[in-house]
Amino acid sequence: MNPPQPRTRNHQSNRTVSIIGTGSYVPERVLTNADLEHLVETSDEWITTRTGIKERRIAAAGECTSDLATKAALAAMENAGITADQIDLILVATITPDMFFPSTSCFVQHKLGAKRAACFDVSAACAGFLYALEIAQQFITSHTYDTILVIGAEKLSSIVDWTDRNTCVLFGDGAGAAILRHRGGGHGVVSTFMGSDGGLSDILYIPGGGSRFPITKENADQRLNCIKMNGKETYKHAIISMLDAAHRALSDANLKPGDLACIIPHQANLRIIEAIAHRMGLPMDRFMVNLDRYGNTSAAAVAIALDEAHRTGRMQVGDYVLLVVFGGGLTWASSVIQW
Ligand code: ACO
Repeated sequence: MNPPQPRTRNHQSNRTVSIIGTGSYVPERVLTNADLEHLVETSDEWITTRTGIKERRIAAAGECTSDLATKAALAAMENAGITADQIDLILVATITPDMFFPSTSCFVQHKLGAKRAACFDVSAACAGFLYALEIAQQFITSHTYDTILVIGAEKLSSIVDWTDRNTCVLFGDGAGAAILRHRGGGHGVVSTFMGSDGGLSDILYIPGGGSRFPITKENADQRLNCIKMNGKETYKHAIISMLDAAHRALSDANLKPGDLACIIPHQANLRIIEAIAHRMGLPMDRFMVNLDRYGNTSAAAVAIALDEAHRTGRMQVGDYVLLVVFGGGLTWASSVIQW
């Protein structure tokens, strides 16, 4: 990986962007490791020891990404105490949009009745929610918008190859949302960082369905429309990139790892999180982990975990919280928030 460029953003001097509400939604259907044993040659023991995942949620056939996103958004709006007509911008981070176009955020806008809001989607794989959070931050600090709905939502079950045991055991469906507002409360975004390396695009990707390999019967038969992953390379770069992002956001916030009350990492693999905890010199109980229940929900993962950390009182007012993610691209990002 090339040394990432210094693209950290320090918001200490104008800490005006607050997260005023969070919400999440996961589908009801639970797919356990025991269920997967009937689909592919695997075992609960293998999945648990290699990943930490015990079960994941699967959306119903007629349930699409914008349905999951809308439910998470409604929960976040209720938590923030705002109505749909107060939303200026809706950002949906996803790699499983309802359609190529219109954007999933347009479908969400319609379902919410948020007629004033501008809408667009963000594509940065699992890093998408933090990329969208940074975009929202920029729109608010530039005084373009006051209230922004940021959502990470995925129906990964629609792009998983259910015959590939290397990948199908890892992923699940769900959505998480946050409402950001100018000068609301004391939950300030302190520093943010985003990194990308397109040279690593072939370790984690969906080759087909776009302009390079459009949908044809032949391409579909080869399952080119499904997730392909080099697990070992992804694992290695996940640790390198998340540590890099964590240190950059912390350094820019003039904080040390020990100052963090809670770390909310991407929920891909427990071993990755344990390696990061070890290298940051922090105990595992400082890390928010819910991948055992939901698997990897890509752009939704850190958003769902943020909402769960909020609702379960993991973060007290004034606490420093680190969000840190990586995803296909390769993309990686971090954000220090004072809750
Ligand atoms: N059940 C049983 N055996 C399996 C399974 C399975 N589900 N999957 C793979 N195996 C086998 C392999 O075929 C291999 O067998 P072999 O030695 O006979 O060839 C053996 O288990 C070991 O496979 P490894 O790849 O060495 O297993 P590893 O310890 O690396 O774990 C894993 C694999 C869990 C995928 C790990 O590499 C990992 O977590 N990588 C990162 C994944 C990740 O973070 N993805 C993020 C995606 S984010 C996004 O943007 C969508």
